[in-house]
Amino acid sequence: MNVLIVYDSVFGNTEQIARAIGDTIGTKEPVQTLRVNSVKTENIRGVDLLIVGSPTRGFRPTEAIQTFLKALDQTDLKSVRVATFDTRIMLSDIKSPFFRFIVNTGGYAANVIGRHLKKLGGYLLVPPEGFFVSGQEGPLKDGELERAGNWALQLIAHS
Ligand SMILES: Cc1cc2nc3c(=O)[nH]c(=O)nc-3n(C[C@H](O)[C@H](O)[C@H](O)COP(=O)(O)O)c2cc1C
Repeated sequence: MNVLIVYDSVFGNTEQIARAIGDTIGTKEPVQTLRVNSVKTENIRGVDLLIVGSPTRGFRPTEAIQTFLKALDQTDLKSVRVATFDTRIMLSDIKSPFFRFIVNTGGYAANVIGRHLKKLGGYLLVPPEGFFVSGQEGPLKDGELERAGNWALQLIAHS
């Protein structure tokens, strides 16, 4: 099974999660972990499992991930299994009830990515997953890299 992980990252947290997922999958399957701006069309060809991850910024993935998604078409995702993740702030870390409400109802990058990939015919293996950072720029909360590794194992088990 060929696995491609496409990620974006501004402060490095999503990159660490992407690499933890890639390292775990790499012990079992061939995997490439690529930052979104270095992905070429030929990288998508022959992929059995496509994993896309982004920081959540303004309830959405980054511009670069949105551009990558827009460039995909249904032939790219024909019989491709997909999974998505993001990094985000933990709701309980947001002091203001008003902002907590806004962030919660605004939603998260992984859900946006998942909806898009499903619309193109990708088969979502597991629900979109969020990994938590402390504050706007990180670092990752304790235990999130291990959780990412376990999530990767779940993916492999489902595929
Ligand atoms: C401009 C901006 C917008 C953000 N919007 C959200 C948001 O809507 N929801 C959320 O949970 N976190 C939000 N965050 C926190 C980011 O999710 C956090 O910076 C990201 O997880 C860090 O990942 P990275 O190190 O890979 O860039 C925002 C951060 C910035 C700087």
